[in-house]
Amino acid sequence: MSSFYDHILIWFILMISRSILMVKGQPQVPCYFIFGDSLVDNGNNNNLITSAKANYFPYGIDFPTDSQNGRFTNGKNKADFIAELLGFNDFIPPYSTARGNEILRGVNYGSGVAGILDETGYALGDRISLNRQLLNHQVTMRRITTILRNITATRSPLNNCLYTIDIGSNDYLNNYLQPRFYPSSLLYTPDRFATLLVQQYGRQLRILHGFGARKVAVSNIGLLGCLPEITSLFGRNASGCADFVNNYVELYNQKLKVLIDNLNTNLPGARFIILNQTSISTGGPPTGLTIFDRPCCMVLPNTRAKGQCIKGQIPCNNRNQYVFFDNFHPTEVGNLAIARRSYTAFAPTDAYPVDIRRLVQF
Ligand SMILES: *[C@@H]1O[C@H](CO)[C@@H](O)[C@H](O)[C@H]1NC(C)=O
Ligand SMILES: *[C@@H]1O[C@H](CO)[C@@H](O)[C@H](O)[C@H]1NC(C)=O
Ligand SMILES: *[C@@H]1O[C@H](CO)[C@@H](O)[C@H](O)[C@H]1NC(C)=O
Repeated sequence: MSSFYDHILIWFILMISRSILMVKGQPQVPCYFIFGDSLVDNGNNNNLITSAKANYFPYGIDFPTDSQNGRFTNGKNKADFIAELLGFNDFIPPYSTARGNEILRGVNYGSGVAGILDETGYALGDRISLNRQLLNHQVTMRRITTILRNITATRSPLNNCLYTIDIGSNDYLNNYLQPRFYPSSLLYTPDRFATLLVQQYGRQLRILHGFGARKVAVSNIGLLGCLPEITSLFGRNASGCADFVNNYVELYNQKLKVLIDNLNTNLPGARFIILNQTSISTGGPPTGLTIFDRPCCMVLPNTRAKGQCIKGQIPCNNRNQYVFFDNFHPTEVGNLAIARRSYTAFAPTDAYPVDIRRLVQF
């Protein structure tokens, strides 16, 4: 007899735990909006006239479905993994193809070579600058209102969504560090340029707040001086990186922190956090990533798209050991490591003042 009741009890416990798991299966935020550059682009550049595109082999070689999707890596990017960690069971669609009700759970506006400044990246062709991404978000907001036919109902979920922004690297890589195409380094000292960027970014983040964004995770700029493209161009110091480039970026990161403190103090309901790319890319739990001084794929030399993978060339086999897929972008394993530490901080310096996991709980 006991065995029969044991079975009933076990079945009952299973049913209860299943229903708890199903409640847990809801995403932690109703929607996730992604702004940024090639670190998060999931296809928005595919139909632009630009050489900053990644919808060709070997990009996407490890992607589960449509491999020519336009992500600048071998598999999933950072935004894909953050969406997974938030409990979304499908990809957030790119703005360029998002249709119908799918926009209710968020949209990805990311565009390769985009910057804080409109002119950043122009030498490679068209790109959707952060200002244009904000205009696209206005279009999305109008579409959502139309879908829900109720402004009140639109407003409140938009407040509860997560917004992440990865922008600024190209304002150095495809602007300040390329005096052949861009005059900025002749016009401004590194300190003055960092100030200009942060002033413009401040205006853009205020606009996003005006659109109802409250939970906003802002990535600062990582160690650009350690990218294979930069060390191949400028050489390495004892650190293994081009120190002067990292010093430029540090000026920007310090000013960004002041900006974020200022926004959190002065904008009603604002919860901006900084995901500290310097901290997130150093130390940490074992990732198996051991090769960081060269890319996994064969990269283009001396063309406009210098540093991107050569079309059709078979990449390295041990992609789980490489930090970089091409000369700029992390491999899928690298993206996973970054996303994990953005979601749950490993070191106290990874996220300021809190990580994404805490941010979405407010
Ligand atoms: C709009 O949505 C809110 C919240 O869901 C609801 O209280 C209100 O009655 C709705 N208004 C209209 C006109 O449907
Ligand atoms: C880094 O390397 C550059 C170029 O080789 C050199 O000019 C510079 O002085 C070095 N900086 C440091 C801090 O060693
Ligand atoms: C980012 O992390 C580095 C250490 O990895 C630290 O020196 C720096 O102060 C941090 N910046 C912010 C904004 O927390």
